[in-house]
Amino acid sequence: MDVFKVSGNGPLRGEIEVGGAKNAALPLLAATLLSDEPVTLRNVPDLSDIRFMVEILRHVGSEVANPEPGVWRLKAKELTHIAPYDLVRKMRASVCLLGPLTARLRKAEVSIPGGCVIGPRPIDLHLKGLAKLNCKVEINNGYVHVDASAMRGGPIFLGGRSGSTVTGTANIIMAAVLAPGTTRIECAACEPEIVDLCNMLVKMGATIKGIGSPELTIEGVEALHGCEHQVVADRIEAGTFIAAAAITRGDVTVKGIPPNLLGAFLDKLEEAGVPLEITGDTIHVRPYSEPLKPVDCITLPHPGFPTDLQAQLCALMTQVEGISIITERIYPNRFMHVPELQRMGADIAIEGPSAIIKGASKLSGAPVMASDLRASAALILAAFAATGDTWIQRIYHLDRGYERFETKLAGLGAKIERLKDTDLPQELLLD
Ligand code: EPU
Repeated sequence: MDVFKVSGNGPLRGEIEVGGAKNAALPLLAATLLSDEPVTLRNVPDLSDIRFMVEILRHVGSEVANPEPGVWRLKAKELTHIAPYDLVRKMRASVCLLGPLTARLRKAEVSIPGGCVIGPRPIDLHLKGLAKLNCKVEINNGYVHVDASAMRGGPIFLGGRSGSTVTGTANIIMAAVLAPGTTRIECAACEPEIVDLCNMLVKMGATIKGIGSPELTIEGVEALHGCEHQVVADRIEAGTFIAAAAITRGDVTVKGIPPNLLGAFLDKLEEAGVPLEITGDTIHVRPYSEPLKPVDCITLPHPGFPTDLQAQLCALMTQVEGISIITERIYPNRFMHVPELQRMGADIAIEGPSAIIKGASKLSGAPVMASDLRASAALILAAFAATGDTWIQRIYHLDRGYERFETKLAGLGAKIERLKDTDLPQELLLD
């Protein structure tokens, strides 16, 4: 297994380009099942999660080509309706097959994804939405069975205890575009990745009104056709680079990120005193000498502060004098990075769904474990601010969602090396 060795190396400096969003590309790949004509996706990041999704699409019958880096061409002529456990268990986002298989084949059997370290991740709202589209939905032997022979549009309230659901909204949109009649979704997720999905579906011939708002109206059509589509920029990757620049007091220009995708995050950083210069799709993080201010932040569905940048904000706030309170409303247990940050010297207490961070800690390098994708990124940011070397294990979590992370950051002067676990100092080797 690979590990990272990261050493604090002072301010990051230079320019860095943002890639395509994983969380947009995954449902877009699933949406290619909605047409029997070829769909070409561009700006697809090269990630292990993308390869898992492609493997599942091949399994259900898609012909897949990857003619050049970042470009995938998929043609879903003959499909089977079953997505088995041994493929689905590798990645939760494979639940996104439920909507398109239901729409195309009028039946689906998709394994329910297993547990997740960031907390319970139910799919009850996905199932409720399908039931509202007049599908028969049953759970049997760990699989969701959908009979959509009488599928038709209808009104659906898709909100749950934590508000909207991102992949749930994607599933119901993908089912509804081929359902006869009108579907009205209330409390739809408004994330840029959902907007991107709607935009591609419209190119394929779908009729969707209210794109980007919590109220979507979809008129079902008979069939969708092929198209070409460019995946939207990865706002979480961009936010991670911005936080990396801020934690090192760097001078970094992040390119290819429309700032409106990151409103709440940029606002919070400006409130903390991070100097940002925004021009078009470029965000310049300027070096600063004044101390930053602590923040009070709550994660919420878009356009609120994204849960996927919570861990990175925690890492940054360990370096800011005063008390920051970061409350997680989407996944209240998503604090697996905290014990590892504490091992590096951070002063953080967890009180219910909140991390109380007493900042300006002197961090020192330590052996730490990555527990999920965004926690991995937070540990790397903390390592940039620490003295000495930090060895980060289980970085396969990071490889699921950040493309060439270490190469891109090394381009800014970061000292980050990908090594084999056999390179770990003897005392750090796991059993
Ligand atoms: N929820 C329900 N019932 C459902 C679905 C969700 O109660 O049927 C709850 C969840 O438990 C959670 C909240 O609703 O409390 C939001 O979950 P959501 O369904 O929106 O999450 P998701 O679609 O499974 C996507 C991203 C996650 C990101 C969340 C929140 C993809 C592939 N994944 O997950 O990304 O954290 O939205 O923004 O789009 C990541 O990239 O690191 C990641 C975990």
